[in-house]
Amino acid sequence: MIPPDSPFHPDNEAGYRAWRAEKLAAYPGRGEDLVVAVKDPRQLTDAEYQAIWHLVRKTNMAIYATPLGEREDKESVRQLAAQFGLEHLDANWLADEDGISSLTPQDEEGKARGENAVSAEANAGAAGVKPQSGDRSQYIPYTHHRIRWHTDGYYNPAERRIYAMTLHCVRAADAGGENDLMDHELAYLYLRDANPEHIRALMAEDAMTIPARVDESGTARPDETGPALLVDGGHLHLRYTARTKSIAWKQDERTLAAVKALEDLLASNPPGAFTLKLQPGMGLICNNVLHTRSGFTDRPEHRRLLYRARYHDHIRNLRG
Ligand SMILES: [Fe+2]
Repeated sequence: MIPPDSPFHPDNEAGYRAWRAEKLAAYPGRGEDLVVAVKDPRQLTDAEYQAIWHLVRKTNMAIYATPLGEREDKESVRQLAAQFGLEHLDANWLADEDGISSLTPQDEEGKARGENAVSAEANAGAAGVKPQSGDRSQYIPYTHHRIRWHTDGYYNPAERRIYAMTLHCVRAADAGGENDLMDHELAYLYLRDANPEHIRALMAEDAMTIPARVDESGTARPDETGPALLVDGGHLHLRYTARTKSIAWKQDERTLAAVKALEDLLASNPPGAFTLKLQPGMGLICNNVLHTRSGFTDRPEHRRLLYRARYHDHIRNLRG
């Protein structure tokens, strides 16, 4: 349930107006505005910390730029996140043993799979079951293909929501591999301005269903029905994918209109949508904002590698 005094409650017009004015004031206009140079990600200076926190408060995201270059250093990435209260990693079954996923192409033999590949780990079985070697190649993040607009873990059940994530670049693609990014709160704002009914439709408890599935190991997972927009601890959270394969939207006029409006909004490249390419040593820290990845090319001897960590926490300011 959404508290009636939340600015995100569709009936709270005054609260929404005040929140909206504050949200749009001095909203960054370019991807470069999100970048904060940091000397040591394991121990941020106060100035670095406040710069990142200021951006996250405004846009739900920040890009940090470290001197790590192509160093494979997950520990620094983990420690940077921990300084913002990100500690509870999602144990998805494709993650490495430490809970952080190494996103690198594994589709050498399977380049033609394209849209037949699975959106992400959406169709994976029970947590804790490790895939056989090579299984990752059937999941789009582990291919060279583009990934359309989505938020991470949209298919997760309520007790495993992904509220924040980090994406750290170790090796960049030779060409492509850019990310589009958009603050989900800004998307909410545009949708509510267009028609408050879109908000009500996406907040409905039965707005979306992740279809039941039995994976190769025979593990059954029931249908998961829930809202696309929800509020947790005062934070707005959006579950969304532009894909249609691993998600079933409620088949009524107002839900389909809301989903179409969001799709059109994202396709229109509105103010506040950013496109950038993470360079080695750079990373995104965000409250699970909307994002894409463009298709890319790399070389066998220099594969694109990004570390992705997903958290059940929201980003917090621990330095007051
Ligand atoms: Fe993602």
